[in-house]
Amino acid sequence: MKEKIYKIAIIPGDGIGPEVIREGCKVLDVVSKKHSFSLAKTEFDFGGGRYLKTGHILSDDDIKNFKKFQAIYLGGIGHPEVKPGILERGILLKLRFDLDQYINLRPVRLYENVETPIKNKTPQDIDYTVIRENTGDLYTGVGEFKNKGSKEEVAIQSMIYSYKQVERSVRYAFEYCQNRHQSEPWRGLSSSEKSKGYIGKVTMCGKTNVLTYVFDLWQRVFQEIANEFPKILTDYVHVDAMCIYMIEAPERFDTIVTSNMFGDIITDLAAVTQGGMGVAPSGNINPKGVSMFEPVHGTAPQFTGQNVINPIAAIASGAMLLNHLGEKAAAQELEKAMRTVIKQMKSMQVGKMGMTTSQVGDAIVEQLSKN
Ligand code: IPM
Ligand code: MN
Repeated sequence: MKEKIYKIAIIPGDGIGPEVIREGCKVLDVVSKKHSFSLAKTEFDFGGGRYLKTGHILSDDDIKNFKKFQAIYLGGIGHPEVKPGILERGILLKLRFDLDQYINLRPVRLYENVETPIKNKTPQDIDYTVIRENTGDLYTGVGEFKNKGSKEEVAIQSMIYSYKQVERSVRYAFEYCQNRHQSEPWRGLSSSEKSKGYIGKVTMCGKTNVLTYVFDLWQRVFQEIANEFPKILTDYVHVDAMCIYMIEAPERFDTIVTSNMFGDIITDLAAVTQGGMGVAPSGNINPKGVSMFEPVHGTAPQFTGQNVINPIAAIASGAMLLNHLGEKAAAQELEKAMRTVIKQMKSMQVGKMGMTTSQVGDAIVEQLSKN
């Protein structure tokens, strides 16, 4: 049988991006070999370093080129010597927007043996997924200054959503929830809910009490889609209250769907509850196009080159990439090896892991080589 080859674009990016992506590629190579496929990787040097040297950010031709790949694996984008916004908007957001990666999939799982700052919460309690809309909202960049630099200045940044943007994200959330609980209902269901045939729950996070245009639209669309999924319970939580419940009662959540800006904020909070930024993976998904996988953390420039950063978030993003390619057995095996190594690590925090960045990758390779 001919070996399957997937074309993957690698963007290590800035700061500690290259270090965590190096470990990610290391374990991906080993697990793909075991499962008789290979990743044909092409590396790209987009990021602050190249921008400072050449002035090149990311062009429409670059975007066209990325469409030839089956997925993108990215470390982090941002540089202390570049004004905030240039690289974020010019590279990261351009990739998300132009490749129409309209879902930012952010699973929140507390792995066994990982310390959470929330007292008395266990891996059973923290196990949900945030579906963050990834193309609209305050992120569209629509806005203006009036009378800039004067005492009469007004700055405007618009929150924009179309029906279609909301519809495809909310639909994705319900479908995700349905798929996840096809064979095993969500553990948070009460016995009476289970006996009624429910399999999971989708919670919408918004701010309907203040943002009466945008979240009015979201709520109507949410209701419309919910009607198509009679086996899924629905819930609504304002974004401010969300910050209470994610700490006090994370077991309340199964699948959360929310807007781009709120999703950005609540997933940093979520990452802390799962042990820190060193753990949280993500996928920018275009179900019919090119998707991109990256750790939620940034570039942590102060730790560059020290081999102290936790690569787990990047490695878990790699497992999501495999899953997305349809290599589910390989993804599961990588997850399993990762969970075993996590149990050997002292902490998920920078410099406290009891291992270096490369030792974490090596330990996962060793696990993968065992069976
Ligand atoms: C994230 C990041 C980005 C975002 C920044 C770097 C533009 O914070 O992926 O969460 O706001 O989406
Ligand atoms: Mn963020």
